[in-house]
Amino acid sequence: MRVLIVGSGGREHALAWKIARSPLVREVLCLPGNGGTAALGTNLEGSADSVDDVLDAARRHRPDLVVVGPEAPLVAGAVDRLRAEGFSAFGPTAAAAQLEGSKVFSKRFLERHGIPTAPFRAFDDPAAALEHVRTRPVPLVVKADGLAAGKGVAVCTARDEAEAAIREMMIERRFGAAGSTVVIEDCLAGEEASLLVLTDGRRFVPLRAAQDHKRVGDGDTGPNTGGMGAYVPAPVMGDALFGRVLDRVVAPSIAGMAKDGAPFAGCLYVGLMIVGGEPFVLEFNVRFGDPETQPLLVHLEDDLVPALRGVALGALDERPLRWHAGATCCVVMAQRGYPGEYGKGAVIEGLERAGALPDVVVFHAGTRRDARGGTVVAGGRVLGVTARGSDLGAARARAYEAVDLLRWDGAFCRRDIGNRGLGRAAG
Ligand code: AMP
Ligand code: GLY
Repeated sequence: MRVLIVGSGGREHALAWKIARSPLVREVLCLPGNGGTAALGTNLEGSADSVDDVLDAARRHRPDLVVVGPEAPLVAGAVDRLRAEGFSAFGPTAAAAQLEGSKVFSKRFLERHGIPTAPFRAFDDPAAALEHVRTRPVPLVVKADGLAAGKGVAVCTARDEAEAAIREMMIERRFGAAGSTVVIEDCLAGEEASLLVLTDGRRFVPLRAAQDHKRVGDGDTGPNTGGMGAYVPAPVMGDALFGRVLDRVVAPSIAGMAKDGAPFAGCLYVGLMIVGGEPFVLEFNVRFGDPETQPLLVHLEDDLVPALRGVALGALDERPLRWHAGATCCVVMAQRGYPGEYGKGAVIEGLERAGALPDVVVFHAGTRRDARGGTVVAGGRVLGVTARGSDLGAARARAYEAVDLLRWDGAFCRRDIGNRGLGRAAG
């Protein structure tokens, strides 16, 4: 098979790495890919965000399967258009991608189908939103309805913070049209976990539960990011809770989308808050999570390609996937300034030595090859240093061993990835 992967982050490098290892695959193409995917196949010119570029690449290279990584082209209808031209594509249609593309859509969907989530109201009038906040106890969560690159959520511990968030989103239009409508919901206190599920619209196969680290600083401090590290499995999701999440959240979500006439096929990412042992949906993403996909695919023992193809063809084999024993941990190395402004172009050193450590894979996120064959910083999240071990402690020690071999001007990472899981294992 020839497989085209759309996107350029750590998620796409991890997908390319796993897909390239499949005996079914002869060639991997990435649009546009990064410095890591360049070593596994061919990087194509163009933008992952442009549906026209995606179609162009497919027409030109005739892949047997297209895997669309990021949410923007999915929400913009890349899969609909690929299918209309006869291509086999992994990912939801634009109608199903509304689960991530609109928070109002997803909250109403959850409410309609009786799936547990925080109580909420939606507003398209800023005066009404401000008035509502005055009547509600804090903390409160204000969310821009549309896509805002992971930055459209404000967890507000004081009323004036919530008012400021509403003004920023609805009046100053910090996120453009994405903030013209907001969701205001109750704040849930608990432990977060992510469950990613492969589904063809009817049948589904869950991946292992993962835990992400969203804040930029150690001890969960500082601004939210796309994710600074992740590990699998997440000890917070024991067998009983995992089963409850499948019954109470995953099965009704997949059945609900089908019943509503927009069956969801692809990877459904369920972001959960576990409150007193019960799961509540914080958000849906309509794609593989990043960085979660990096440890997940290193931890996966089975070939991923039959499942991807099963999803694309609407004939997913529901047999459980096989996983390695132990745990896998991914530490994101980022560029100084991230998640704000950051500089590009610093030369990364130590990639070969770090990647040669046993059970370590160094995924590239924001990198590119320079003219001299070196690898340079090209994004805020630069590398996803991923290691497998006999347990979480061993996986994490190995990941940090690799981190310490990598350097460039401006590199930083969190030093506490996995702490929560280790605490739980110890307690
Ligand atoms: P979202 O993009 O909706 O997942 O929100 C980003 C982050 O904001 C989540 O990972 C949580 O850390 C936090 N968050 C979102 N909704 C809530 C909520 N209702 N209660 C507490 N934290 C939340
Ligand atoms: N790591 C969170 C996400 O992929 O949105």
